[in-house]
Amino acid sequence: MKHVAELVKKSRNVVFLTGAGISVPSGIPDFRSSNGLYAKYGQEIFDIDHFHAHPDKFYAFAKEGLISMLDCQPNAAHKLIAELEEKGYVRGVITQNIDGLHQKAGSKNVAELHGNARMWHCLKCARRFDVSDPMQRVELLTNNFKCSCGGLTKPDIVFFGELLPMDEWAKAERWAKTCDVLITVGTSLVVYPASTLPLLAYEKGAFVAIVNKGPTGLDKLAEHQNLKIDIDVLEFAELFKSVFESL
Ligand code: OAD
Repeated sequence: MKHVAELVKKSRNVVFLTGAGISVPSGIPDFRSSNGLYAKYGQEIFDIDHFHAHPDKFYAFAKEGLISMLDCQPNAAHKLIAELEEKGYVRGVITQNIDGLHQKAGSKNVAELHGNARMWHCLKCARRFDVSDPMQRVELLTNNFKCSCGGLTKPDIVFFGELLPMDEWAKAERWAKTCDVLITVGTSLVVYPASTLPLLAYEKGAFVAIVNKGPTGLDKLAEHQNLKIDIDVLEFAELFKSVFESL
């Protein structure tokens, strides 16, 4: 922990890459844990072909578990990253999450690789819905996610089988290639292309630290630099803060 805190303190160019694990203490399940979303709804829940074949299955999940994530609050780990950005240490946070919690915590430079669950659009007339607005949320929920034109709606989430938003990816790639330190938090690092970002950073000479409870796809890389921390994200936030402030 001390090593990671020292690297951040020395650098004004730190990038975070986050995944679902950072939002678990905020009440949002991750994907691949035994009690994660895939165990409950199946791997295909964010597959674009499955969505078109069975939109009602996706809407049932949206009603039960997706829309409610927008009411969750950021935790100490989201707040730590936002504070480090405000103090000038962090260039930006790249997230695979769709919950908007980094922005709620105060992060300004956020690259959302997999879109967000807040904005929805009609696949027929392109009307947009912001489900953080109570009126628009009620409209979608009462019409079982059908637009007033009769079209199906879909959130601005990148489903498997869809392209990543190019501007967000370009930003993430630029940050990864030019940072001094890249710290991943709460991600299994198994989903392409997000999982290539730590490798890009490493190849350009950055330190790569992995903060996660359990194994990740890139543990070897961080272990090589002695920068793997197997820890709960809340514990990480607390420990990091106290070490960082003592330096
Ligand atoms: P995963 O579910 O694959 O990984 C989350 C990681 O966080 C796991 O390794 C957990 O062990 C760890 N974790 C859970 N709770 C934690 C805690 N409290 N403290 C520390 N670690 C914890 O989620 P992602 O890596 O984000 O894409 O998955 C990447 C992408 O795969 C998602 O964005 C999603 C999914 O398919 C799309 O939907 C397009």
